[in-house]
Amino acid sequence: MTQRSPWQRTQTCGDLTIQDVGTEAVLNGWIENHRDHGQLVFVDLRDRYGVTQLVAHVDTNDMAEGTVDLLRRLGAEDVVSVRGKIRARDADKINKARSTGEIELLVTAVTVLSESDTPPFEVLDDVEANEELRMKYRYLDLRRRPLQEGLIKRSKFVTAMRTYLADRDFIDVETPILTGSTPEGARDYLVPSRVHPGKFFALPQSPQIFKQLCMVAGLDRYYQIARCFRDEDLRADRQPEFTQVDLEMSFVEENDVLELVEGAVVHAFQQGFGIDLPTPFPRLSFEEAKNRFGSDKPDMRFDMELIDCTEHARTSAFKVFQGAVETGGMVKGITAVGGAAKYSRKGLDALTKYVQEYGAKGLAWAKITDKGVEGSISKFYADEAGQQLIELMGAKPGDLLLFVADQSKIVHRALGEVRLKVGSDLGLRDPKKFRCCWVLNFPMFDWNEDKQRWQYAHNPFSAPVDWDNSDFATDTASHRSRAYDFVMNGWELGSGSIRIHRHELQKKVFDFLGISEAEQRRNFGYLLDAYKFGGPPHGGIALGVDRMVALALGREGIRDVIAFPKTAMAFDPMAQAPSVVTPEQMAELQILSTAKPREED
Ligand code: AMO
Ligand code: AMP
Repeated sequence: MTQRSPWQRTQTCGDLTIQDVGTEAVLNGWIENHRDHGQLVFVDLRDRYGVTQLVAHVDTNDMAEGTVDLLRRLGAEDVVSVRGKIRARDADKINKARSTGEIELLVTAVTVLSESDTPPFEVLDDVEANEELRMKYRYLDLRRRPLQEGLIKRSKFVTAMRTYLADRDFIDVETPILTGSTPEGARDYLVPSRVHPGKFFALPQSPQIFKQLCMVAGLDRYYQIARCFRDEDLRADRQPEFTQVDLEMSFVEENDVLELVEGAVVHAFQQGFGIDLPTPFPRLSFEEAKNRFGSDKPDMRFDMELIDCTEHARTSAFKVFQGAVETGGMVKGITAVGGAAKYSRKGLDALTKYVQEYGAKGLAWAKITDKGVEGSISKFYADEAGQQLIELMGAKPGDLLLFVADQSKIVHRALGEVRLKVGSDLGLRDPKKFRCCWVLNFPMFDWNEDKQRWQYAHNPFSAPVDWDNSDFATDTASHRSRAYDFVMNGWELGSGSIRIHRHELQKKVFDFLGISEAEQRRNFGYLLDAYKFGGPPHGGIALGVDRMVALALGREGIRDVIAFPKTAMAFDPMAQAPSVVTPEQMAELQILSTAKPREED
């Protein structure tokens, strides 16, 4: 057997406790900080598992020569190995916040394993450096506990997902990264082919077509922790490459997929994050979600549902309300319980500006007092009309009522946003509370105002609810698909559907969407062909891993839970990617660039 180096660690920096007092240990780690009291030097030594306090004293018995001096000279982020004896701390020096807080290591010898330059920022839990700098030195940022904790929990969560699915006969199938275009609504990342000059692979926006082909192949239950690539405008909850728990099942209906996913999510949230999600997840139709919450991804942590006041408004003396109804619109309101005191005149003006950003013309408001209705609409709601409104809105003194009158699309959108804003202002959106729901039966098609044509709402493979009525040109907006979204706390975390599994219907959808025969062949020919050889009924879903982890851990965006993310400009400041390539590489690929070199290149 090979001999262990005497400097190899015997424990980690998170292991030692009061039980170990009197024994010897060797620890390896990074120097977190350093307090020099002359005769006495204190050092915090860090690794993934924790922090242990080291103490070196000139009078220590059996101490190797120069130990205190060496420790004194060491700086932040140097990597060292220390040997010493574990001793109990004095009662007043105990640090309850640390697993090792009751002990310290009295150092007898130290060796430097690797020296660090002065780091560009201090590696602290509450780091102060800006994000760009931290991304440039991501490996230093990743030494911070909150980021390590995110990655560790993410790993546990994904492992729990895998075992849950594997235990239920799902097989993990890897689908190609170099492939053709997949339609998920974003731009493709393209990879030029050297062997086929002038031709390009696309990186998959999702494994959608391949997983459906796995069903045609008879694999019955597929899953993959799949990396997806989308060239789209980035936001806090979007990255150009991200990870899905992607799955597909044969011979199933909605309920089979929803139940399976609900079980998997509950299990993985419990295993990964120790979070118990309340079940069953309520199921709402798209219509119901819009009507009740003004959103197709409702935040169910609080009520404050939209109340339909259209009938009431029809006879209102308030012309804004009556006018909206007369022109085919509607009036809806929300009751912010106890909200009257929260919003001053200025606050309500700000809220009015806020709804206008979402297309509303204004925001009518009323504060309920013991005397009745007070506020922008009070003169129309004295006496009986006021009492009727209070009753309709289920309001009590101290509540605030907010209304939008317009066409339904605008009312839902604007009031849905106000509901969220007021929910936040009133502290109803507790980040430690988790509420899931399913939203079902999205429209098959959306009208694209810019392009003046219909487009698919989810993806073109979702089956219509009414399989027999595929006359999509008639009442296009009313066709519903068998698509569903998984929603938590107002975030869309997953999306899927029962698919079309027959050639004729799939072609009909492509035709209706105006996808030419040539384009159908080019992009989906192999899927259409596959359906000629026996496509089983099937359906599935993809869940966004980054979003689920970020939400569970209460992080602002998904960057925090990705080891090496990109900036909002889709750039990696550490690897300096993307970058220019050499003229030789371009020549080999037979590519010429028309881009003008920019300063930052
Ligand atoms: P969809 O495009 O809705 O569906 O994606 C599914 C889930 O993936 C996550 N997601 C993202 N996460 C981070 N950054 C992004 N840019 C990003 N885009 C999407 C979201 C989203 O809910 N093939 C279909 C699924 C199916 O029908 O089975 C698909 O990809 O959490
Ligand atoms: P006005 O009569 O324009 O002074 O508006 C009276 C109140 O009604 C103000 O609080 C406006 O913000 C509000 N308001 C105006 N248009 C609408 C609308 N379409 N929906 C709801 N409130 C509105």
